[in-house]
Amino acid sequence: MSVVCIEFKPGLEGVPATQSSISYVDGQQGVLEYRGINIQELAKKSSFLETAYLLIWGYLPSKEELESFEHDIRYHRRIKYRIRDMMKCFPETGHPMDALQTSAAALGLFYSRRALDNPEYIRSAVVRLLAKIPTMVAASELMRRGNDAVQPKDDLDYAANFLYMLNEREPDPLAAQVFDVCLILHAEHTINASTFSAMVTSSTLTDPYAVIASAVGTLAGPLHGGANEDVITMLSEIGSVENVRPYLEKCLETKAKIMGFGHRVYKVKDPRAIILQELAEKLFEKFGYDKYYEIALELEKAVEEKLGHKGIYPNVDFYSGLVYRKLGISSDLFTPVFAIARVAGWLAHWKEQLTENRIFRPTQIYTGEHNISYTPIQER
Ligand code: SDX
Repeated sequence: MSVVCIEFKPGLEGVPATQSSISYVDGQQGVLEYRGINIQELAKKSSFLETAYLLIWGYLPSKEELESFEHDIRYHRRIKYRIRDMMKCFPETGHPMDALQTSAAALGLFYSRRALDNPEYIRSAVVRLLAKIPTMVAASELMRRGNDAVQPKDDLDYAANFLYMLNEREPDPLAAQVFDVCLILHAEHTINASTFSAMVTSSTLTDPYAVIASAVGTLAGPLHGGANEDVITMLSEIGSVENVRPYLEKCLETKAKIMGFGHRVYKVKDPRAIILQELAEKLFEKFGYDKYYEIALELEKAVEEKLGHKGIYPNVDFYSGLVYRKLGISSDLFTPVFAIARVAGWLAHWKEQLTENRIFRPTQIYTGEHNISYTPIQER
């Protein structure tokens, strides 16, 4: 078979790694669609669980299908006490993303593995992961603070229950509604780094818990999901509107990346950033202003002046942290919250990968040498 030499593209930029009908991004127009439905529509009219169903099974569920899905998710929110006991051994100084990756992989120890041709197994894995990941994020956070985890509250919906488990009190309805929209916005985004990880891991036909653990580890990096936490650190370092431009000048001189800006695909403002900004303003109106917001607005303006010509605009991570702060979520939990939502997209790609699977095994352009003789250690 003749080997066709395809030009090497660092980071596989612009190289299709799959054919998918799950989501679509137009980076020039700033469009994001889930199964053909615009993200603005879903943010306004859908719920996270309905959106997760749409992403995973490819259509908007009927009333009965959605009720059955929501019921099953409520029923499976609890986690095994052995997983909770394992979390009690995690060091307080450990990062919540490492805790999440560990506990997600641990789920695989408890549930049957690899009946991947059985739709019931697929559904049970989807339900368990969507149901238990929020519980694990909240539980490990409470234990990190030295408290006992609280059990999920079955009469609360998905978003409200997570905020309840995290803050130990039922959230304001607006806070729960805003958080549900945040989950919709973060649910899926074509073949980003963590989704690609999920696909590669899925292609070996391992269990879905290992797939999600692999994706969580990838999302943790500051160039991918970890930027939202760094944005808040950056805004606090800037400290005032007057210091925005001097700070930006320093970043440009040292070629430092400005966290929350830029995107491999979007060359305009990320449509999710636009909606997150609106959500932040809704929360400020009800719960009070955040001084970091005016710094963020000034930074967005300054970055556009300096880097707009290179297509560097706010991405999803720039305003999400300001929303989460208002919801009482600490900054090192921002990326685990991103992961809670993205489990829906990762599972959609896992399921899609299984339909026409072929194990990922790309090639390379070898740049090393050949026929080197071995030098004994005493001669080195
Ligand atoms: C998300 O892929 C996805 O879909 C990700 C995501 C999802 O939903 O899964 O959308 C999530 O968007 C999170 C991204 C969060 N990361 C950050 O905010 C970190 C800061 N951003 C950059 O590291 C960067 O923009 C990336 C990693 C997001 C994208 O980088 P690329 O496509 O590899 O671009 P690049 O690094 O090759 O940069 C191209 C040029 C360079 O300038 P030159 O060397 O050509 O002169 O743009 C510059 C870069 O220096 N640039 C930036 C910049 N991002 C790119 N300069 C300053 N600040 C930045 N943030």
